[in-house]
Amino acid sequence: MTTTQEFLGKEDFTINNQTVSESCPSNIALIKYWGKYDNQIPANPSISYTLNHCKTNTTMEFLADEPFSVQTFLAGNEEVKFAEKIEKYFRNIEQYLPWILKGKYIIKTENTFPHSSGIASSASGFGAIAKCLMKLDETFSEIDTKEESLRKASFLARLGSGSACRSLYNGLVVWGQSQIKDSSDLFAVQYPNDEIHEIFKNFNDWVLLIHEGQKTVSSTVGHSLMNTNPYADRRFQEARENFGPMKEILANGDLPSFIKLVEHEALTLHAMMMMSDPAFILMKTGTLEVINKIWDFRRETNLPLFFTLDAGANVHLLFPNDGSEEKIKSFIETELLQHTQNNGVVRDVMRF
Ligand code: DP6
Repeated sequence: MTTTQEFLGKEDFTINNQTVSESCPSNIALIKYWGKYDNQIPANPSISYTLNHCKTNTTMEFLADEPFSVQTFLAGNEEVKFAEKIEKYFRNIEQYLPWILKGKYIIKTENTFPHSSGIASSASGFGAIAKCLMKLDETFSEIDTKEESLRKASFLARLGSGSACRSLYNGLVVWGQSQIKDSSDLFAVQYPNDEIHEIFKNFNDWVLLIHEGQKTVSSTVGHSLMNTNPYADRRFQEARENFGPMKEILANGDLPSFIKLVEHEALTLHAMMMMSDPAFILMKTGTLEVINKIWDFRRETNLPLFFTLDAGANVHLLFPNDGSEEKIKSFIETELLQHTQNNGVVRDVMRF
């Protein structure tokens, strides 16, 4: 079993001025991570799709031997709050990158998707920062293999934001100890490609922007509400159990069971929030209208359009490219788009 020891940094390093750039996609969970223990250890395993288009592009300038400080720019605008968060994060991971506090950072980052779209910018953002850090690490210390470096990037990303550790890999990705080979609570692993039916390797994720404002509850607060939720243990157990059917579904291409499981996971996440103290209802009227229309559409046409949700009101519309997608797309345009705030939709795909 891998332990944190494996990721401790080498004390032997030579630093110099460097500028590195990296890009990292966002991801959407199918079995959700909701609830965690100290040091970003997830309460249950999760599995997600990594998106193809929604990404964060980050450039990190490291000025060696200057007093430690972090300056961040998001789409050209200085973000002081974000810099404070990153400074804290860097201090927190010093044992894994012993050179990290020995310089000044200017970090410029931009997302290819709208802010507050419900697309996890913390996942792609911390993913990109962790990749930049590993690029610096490769030049300052003895080079690790590509595979080790990626695993450490996932480990470091997790310490920034849990779901970020899954964004380091393409396709379907698992984080958290489970029946999936080599899975760990410390980093994510790619789901074995040869155990995935072709239908799941070419999927769409269209995100309907039902509500574009600030999130009503941050994920930090959301996760902590699970500490006192009376249903938490049952939920963690259910998520672990869901890996059994999920494994079979992915292998045999059982789309109806996939749809049922993925929608159940999304609704459970929201149910947990409704049963928390204080309680939160994260859906808006439009969210419910869209869900009901999807269910009616499936009953009437039998076409595989379904949804998942993050901790917010926006709806991720999932459907395969299996020949039925044109009918589904025109249904979305004519029936579902009207429930968004400004005709907002982000069209992404998961192809691998
Ligand atoms: C609902 O990864 O954003 O998207 O670890 O506190 O940064 P922190 O939380 P975060 O939580 C994501 C929760 C989720 C489900 C998921 O992505 O699995």
